[in-house]
Amino acid sequence: YVSSSIREACQDMVLSDEQLKVIRERLLRSINEGLSKETHASATVKCFITYVQDLPSGKERGKFLALDLGGTNFRILLITLGENHFDMKSKIYAIPQSIMTGSGVELFDHIAECLLNFIKDQGVYKQQLPLGFTFSFPCQQLGLTKGLLSQWTKGFNCSGVVGQDVVKLLKEALQRRGDSTVDLCAILNDTTGTLMSCAWKNPNTRIGIIVGTGCNACYIEKVENVELFDGDFSKPYVIINTEWGNFGADGSLDDILTEYDREIDRNSLNPGKQIFEKIISGMYMGEIVRLMLVKFTKQKLLFNGQVSEQLNTKGSFLTKYVSDIENDEKDNFTKCREVFHELGLSHASDQDCMNVRYICEIVSRRAAHLVSAGAATLINKMDFNSVTIGVDGSVYRFHPNFHDLMVGKITQMVKSNVKFDIMLSEDGSGRGAALVAAVASCSV
Ligand code: BG6
Ligand code: GLC
Repeated sequence: YVSSSIREACQDMVLSDEQLKVIRERLLRSINEGLSKETHASATVKCFITYVQDLPSGKERGKFLALDLGGTNFRILLITLGENHFDMKSKIYAIPQSIMTGSGVELFDHIAECLLNFIKDQGVYKQQLPLGFTFSFPCQQLGLTKGLLSQWTKGFNCSGVVGQDVVKLLKEALQRRGDSTVDLCAILNDTTGTLMSCAWKNPNTRIGIIVGTGCNACYIEKVENVELFDGDFSKPYVIINTEWGNFGADGSLDDILTEYDREIDRNSLNPGKQIFEKIISGMYMGEIVRLMLVKFTKQKLLFNGQVSEQLNTKGSFLTKYVSDIENDEKDNFTKCREVFHELGLSHASDQDCMNVRYICEIVSRRAAHLVSAGAATLINKMDFNSVTIGVDGSVYRFHPNFHDLMVGKITQMVKSNVKFDIMLSEDGSGRGAALVAAVASCSV
């Protein structure tokens, strides 16, 4: 059994249904503030207009390029949408830490260089292909091809980019190289790509969620509910990129934050911002567990009171370990012991294994419940009787029961006449970006 002292020590990580209800009410208020003209400027949840107003028809055809920046990997993709087939070639390129927190010029020069290498390798150099740029950061879009970065999130913090049009910065970088042979025709968020790629298969998709390095959601809103909307009024809906990761930046989650959450925030690149994201997403989940383990070990509740040097090192407990440890069969601690070995904790007992698994469960369950509260808020707001939610991101993909936890919790929180299902998105930033580029149809 899990030690009762550990259960007690974890209590502040458990959210009651009542707390989740309050969170939903506050999130709805924050979303409405983002949508309203009067409060948008000061809103924490910005609800950016994406200018994507059409879901895919399935008739989109052609060859497209896509850039995917902001998740675990920076990728470049070549996508072919055909009658009965979908083909994709992709390559991952590294972005060194020094570039992630260096200057914007260096970042965009790096992207441009990788892009040119890719199109040369793929033999499409002279084809002037349409490109969809999945840029997974909060952008105030002024159209499909103009997006001003409102703030960096996750591990990025490049100088000279906030407030700038990232499409223009990329175009300038391509021009600096003197061989701009692509047609940059759409910028989109990864949540939009996720929604679009799921909608291609299932037209009932109305929400796109990412639970990966970061956490965010987009959904389909009636244009009349978007006070700042200045797109095509002949179409009834527009996709809204909520940027709900920043929910709580005004203190509205303070009453549920734990000492670990506060420490994570303090030590982050963006203190005070992206609070909802920090208590959910993969960039922080492992570190939350680590902080708990260190504290409990110092209190002699774990590992015989012996903290290893590795465990004491920031970032050493990878979020992947949470999924790995929870993936072990009950009463079998193979993965758990491998993780302990990595962390210099080979002296752990079976009791430690059981306790640590419980801590991982508590942290990932809180994350799943919070995402569910977010999803339920959107479902209840939209008022359709049936909704498919497209989801992507490493936490959702690799955690053994994140999906089931979400289904269970959302069921409890939505009106009983609403049906919903959750589907894994296959390549939002590839197919989704191509579909948005196709909708933008600049040179297609
Ligand atoms: C990928 C999508 O699968 O998931 C990306 O293609 C997205 O566009 C990413 O950003 C999010 O997950 P993670 O875990 O890589 O941040
Ligand atoms: C961060 C970004 C957001 C993105 C999310 C998932 O929250 O601000 O734009 O969608 O991470 O990648």
